[in-house]
Amino acid sequence: MPITFKALSYIYDKDMPYAHKALDNIDLDIREGIITAIIGETGSGKSTLVEHLNALLLPSEGSLEILDYTLTAGNKPKFLKPLRKDVGLVFQFSEYQLFEETVLKDVAFGPQNFGIDQQTATSMAKEALRMVNIDESLFSASPLELSGGQKRRVAIAGIIACDPQIIVLDEPTAGLDPRGAKEIIDLFVDLNRKLKKTIIIVSHDNEMVYNYCDDTVVLSKGQIRYHGPTIDLFNDEKILKEYDLLEPQIVTLRKLLKNKGFRISDDARTLDVIVKQVKEQLK
Ligand SMILES: Nc1ncnc2c1ncn2[C@@H]1O[C@H](COP(=O)(O)OP(=O)(O)OP(=O)(O)O)[C@@H](O)[C@H]1O
Ligand SMILES: [Mg+2]
Repeated sequence: MPITFKALSYIYDKDMPYAHKALDNIDLDIREGIITAIIGETGSGKSTLVEHLNALLLPSEGSLEILDYTLTAGNKPKFLKPLRKDVGLVFQFSEYQLFEETVLKDVAFGPQNFGIDQQTATSMAKEALRMVNIDESLFSASPLELSGGQKRRVAIAGIIACDPQIIVLDEPTAGLDPRGAKEIIDLFVDLNRKLKKTIIIVSHDNEMVYNYCDDTVVLSKGQIRYHGPTIDLFNDEKILKEYDLLEPQIVTLRKLLKNKGFRISDDARTLDVIVKQVKEQLK
């Protein structure tokens, strides 16, 4: 069952003189079970779009169907708690959300809030912290003592601990060093491939999107410009130019090698695969 936006619009400060339509008549079906990227220029409406997925924002017009829930403009939903357990949202700059005295308490807060007893919540929190690679020695540290990358991972653990079916991450790698970013990417790829979670990720990093995301949605000025396989988007020079998107370096490299006479398959998305194909032809 896809996640379906039907003619959904969102207006900030509705009925005010400075009202602003941030999402404009969105029709969109996001597939479950895969990794979908949401990209687009700053201010295009990416955060506004994903904040609807757990009803942090409610549609001003139209509706959204997600799992067994339907959010319709003008209707106050009665199922916020179960929805927020099933759809975990990791905010842009999620590290500012950490507030408990210790890392472990912070991560256990989520499951406890959803009615799980303290002991079980603590063991779920430990498991989540291990998944995001936070060492046990940090469990009793204050979240304030952690590095930026560690804080981000603890915030993500707080969502994982609630075992949602859908995980939404708003720019989870922004501002992290390459190693910190790679750890987060490996994590959400694992959550998708091993635990079959549906992942929706907002990103400005086209290289990452090209390498790891199955589908991509391109937003511009609150409207959908493209939705489909990531490969088809980034392999199409015309579309890239039209939407002013940077070509991933891997695509550029593949074209260069093809011009030099190498046979490189169009679905070669990583350096490893390209190097292997070149090596075979050099034999
Ligand atoms: N709380 C708010 N009140 C009023 N306008 C807002 C608010 N939040 C966002 N907007 C406006 O809505 C539009 C969409 O913002 P949004 O944050 O969804 O964009 P974004 O694509 O996530 O941008 P970024 O890449 O910078 O995170 C922008 O024009 C923004 O200025
Ligand atoms: Mg944003």
